[in-house]
Amino acid sequence: MRIGVLTGGGDCPGLNAVIRAIVRKGVDEYGHEFLGYRNGWKGPLENDFAELGVPQVRGILPRGGTILGSSRTNPYSIPGGVEEVTANLRAAQVDALIAIGGEDTLGVAKKLNDAGTPIVGVPKTIDNDLNATDYTFGFDTAVNIAMEAIDRLHTTAESHHRSLVVEVMGRHAGWIALHAGLAGGANVILIPERPFDLDEVARYVKHRFDTQYAAILVVAEGAVPQGGAEMLQKGELDAFGHTRLGGVGQWLADALEERTGFESRAVVLGHVQRGGTPTAFDRVLATRFGLAAIDAAHEGEFGVMTALSGTQITRVPLAAATAKLKTVPVERYAEAEVFFG
Ligand code: F6P
Repeated sequence: MRIGVLTGGGDCPGLNAVIRAIVRKGVDEYGHEFLGYRNGWKGPLENDFAELGVPQVRGILPRGGTILGSSRTNPYSIPGGVEEVTANLRAAQVDALIAIGGEDTLGVAKKLNDAGTPIVGVPKTIDNDLNATDYTFGFDTAVNIAMEAIDRLHTTAESHHRSLVVEVMGRHAGWIALHAGLAGGANVILIPERPFDLDEVARYVKHRFDTQYAAILVVAEGAVPQGGAEMLQKGELDAFGHTRLGGVGQWLADALEERTGFESRAVVLGHVQRGGTPTAFDRVLATRFGLAAIDAAHEGEFGVMTALSGTQITRVPLAAATAKLKTVPVERYAEAEVFFG
């Protein structure tokens, strides 16, 4: 078989580990040939690919980012885009595609698969918000980076009697905020799923100072104050209809300083959370996803995504993976609330 591989959406630690596993097993055990499409869906759209063999994947297991490059290109938002993609794949004699991405990339994969292009999906996102899988790779790395940042910020918060607000990624789902906040011992965690009451947050902060501690707050970029709206860095929509979020951390720090009288500062972790080498957990998960993806393609099972269910790697329909986002359930947030204030 001739199989195309692409990585779409935001980069994510573990992408290279998936690519390596697909190619190593695909070449060594099944004798398949691979084409690496560059920059997500832009690759098949512009017929931009290169041979992807074992020599190309040597040494990439611990490397962050993606050797294939990535983009947020959406062939469905470009007139004639889908026809172009299909014609280019046919001309390159591609029998199947493995698409590694989050909700947007896999949403395109689902539609193309339904229209007749055989595709296997692999779930990628540091946000961990893809449905039908317990975890996505990249999440564990992002949480560990954010936790380490929180650990380090405790020093300044305590020495200077300041509130420190840590803004983490998470557009619609607060998984990174929840896990990093729990692991780092944050006193308040604010997530997009639960609009927050500013007065209540200020009470938690005051209580923290009353009990001779300084406050550390973790806020997801998509968190909103009750009655308010998402805070934007840029209102312009990308090809998948997303705005660029950012600013809630600084807004909250200013509002808390005014309400509590204690100095408050904001730290935005941004792309640091997606950078660098993946954790062992993510390397193993990404490798297992890659092995499962090439097995599915080899067996001719398309329209599926590899998934983690408990400790088992399974295959789920792309439809289930993209039907809705996996957000933080009320009871998981309640576990964190025990430690607020
Ligand atoms: O998709 C993951 C994500 O990290 C989101 O949490 C965040 O809003 C977005 O990517 C930012 O992506 P970009 O680098 O394209 O602005």
